[in-house]
Amino acid sequence: MEILSTVASAKAQSRAWREEGLSVGLVPTMGYLHGGHASLIQRSLTQCDRTVVSIFVNPTQFAPGEDLATYPRDVLGDTELCRDLGVAAIFYPEDPEMYPPGFQAQVAVPGLSQYLCGRSRPTHFAGVCLVVLKLLNIVAPHRAYFGLKDAQQFFILSRLARDLNLDAELTACPIVREPDGLALSSRNARLSPPERAAAPVLRRALDQARILLEGGERESRHIASKALAIIQAEPLARLDYFEIADAESLAPVDLVEREVLVAVAAFFGGTRLIDNFIFPPRL
Ligand code: PAJ
Repeated sequence: MEILSTVASAKAQSRAWREEGLSVGLVPTMGYLHGGHASLIQRSLTQCDRTVVSIFVNPTQFAPGEDLATYPRDVLGDTELCRDLGVAAIFYPEDPEMYPPGFQAQVAVPGLSQYLCGRSRPTHFAGVCLVVLKLLNIVAPHRAYFGLKDAQQFFILSRLARDLNLDAELTACPIVREPDGLALSSRNARLSPPERAAAPVLRRALDQARILLEGGERESRHIASKALAIIQAEPLARLDYFEIADAESLAPVDLVEREVLVAVAAFFGGTRLIDNFIFPPRL
């Protein structure tokens, strides 16, 4: 497995593979890899001749006061996991390699980014778009893999790829969960034992919403009030949002008449967790 830390070496490696006629898959990550990341990597391994995993805790998607400094890191463990899975190369740049002095460029998908997580993290998705566009330009993959745990992120990146005529095909993979329903996340490592025990409340609230939708309920406020009651009954959860959004625009809907994204975010202590489902289900 190659460990590439410069843009030049990553460009040269992936272009060499492409010239040999091999297909290249990219899995962008911020590291501290878990089973959710592994599912993306495995999908790429089955669909592409060479899989590149990028590990970069991207500073431009964190606002001042967010958890950039304390974001969990374990490069050795990540490297081992990637090697065991059969990854061809890790792209693991330092900050100045990605953002050299004088860096100024910006890229954004403002419409889709204003809702849901964008309300409490107004600069987050511009940072995600910027780094993913850079990674796609550096690695030039045929396909890139993302998880629906971050469904808004995937919708925004898909719009970016369409609007800017990017070559890579973006693929969404289903959410991987713990046995008690909590979506796997690098940030779960920071939960205290009581917070970890409380965190599956997000999934329970979403399950309640799904049951109501499956039963024919279409009024968002009825669905939200039942889901919110479940979250409010958990004293360790501090709600950020629960929202039923149009899957195309991500704007909130009063009535569920088309495909929707039902999404929730809450703080457990200082740790912000998110979860969601698409209705009707796609995958
Ligand atoms: P990170 O949080 O490390 O996630 C990397 C990829 O793994 C994302 O596409 C995310 O949706 C996916 N993922 C995380 N947990 C998952 C789970 N439980 N099930 C399925 N997929 C899961 O998302 C980012 O990093 C960054 O914003 C990034 C795209 C790398 C840009 O910096």
